[in-house]
This record gives sequence, structure tokens and C-alpha cells, in this order.
Amino acid sequence: MEVATAAGGGGGAKTPDEVIAKHCNACHGSGLLGAPKIGDAAAWGERAKKEGGVDGLLAKAISGLNSMPPKGTCADCSDPELKGAIQKMSGLK
Ligand code: HEC
Repeated sequence: MEVATAAGGGGGAKTPDEVIAKHCNACHGSGLLGAPKIGDAAAWGERAKKEGGVDGLLAKAISGLNSMPPKGTCADCSDPELKGAIQKMSGLK
């Protein structure tokens, strides 16, 4: 089955919803292990302030942070794909 590779020209980018559903939701859906919950703008906003915005959060998501695994277990996610998922979960731009 050829699933995620058919986007044509763009390298088969994953949508934020796909990345979240497959990888991030396991922890961020319920707040497992202390993860900031999807849609909890206050929790994400506080973290963004501390890290210097969405790009700072992205850097931590790539490297991992305590119980947060590197790239949130999406080893083949590109930086823009991860960033899209973070923006969608946090509501931040
Ligand atoms: C195994 C559980 C788990 C999965 C899967 C997971 N996370 Fe997390 N994430 C966490 C936890 C726990 C924290 C809080 C870490 C802390 O502050 O100690 C966190 C924090 C974060 C943060 C905030 C980092 C910061 O600097 O405060 C971002 C951004 C993030 N996750 C993005 C993602 C993305 C994107 C995905 C999916 C691709 C994902 N996470 C998947 C557990 C997870």
C-alpha cells in the first residue's frame, strides 16, 4: 500500500492532523506523563513564553524533553510537519 507518499512534488508532507493522530495524541490527548493537553492554550502559551515562541517549542520537540520523546516518536517527521502539529495542538501561530 502506498499511503503517505502520494502528495506529489512536496515530498509527501503529512498534515498536522495525521501527525497528531498517529504520534502526539497518545500523550497529548490525555495529558499523559504531564504532557500539555491538546487545545489547552494556557498550558501551551506558558511553555511558548518560556521557550521563546513556537520555534523554541519545536526545538524541544525535536530534541525531546524529560518524558517527551525526540520528535514525539515521529522519527520521519520533517521540522515543518512537527511545527504544524505543535501549532494545531497549541493554537499558537
Ligand atoms: C510518550 C508521550 C509523548 C508523545 C508521544 C508526544 N509527547 Fe510531546 N510531551 C510529552 C510530555 C510528557 C511533555 C512535557 C515534558 C516536560 O515538560 O517535562 C511534552 C511536551 C511537548 C512540547 C513542549 C516542549 C516544551 O519546551 O515545553 C511539545 C512542543 C511537544 N511535546 C510536541 C509533541 C509533538 C509534536 C508530538 C507528536 C509528533 C508529541 N509531542 C508526542 C509527551 C509526549
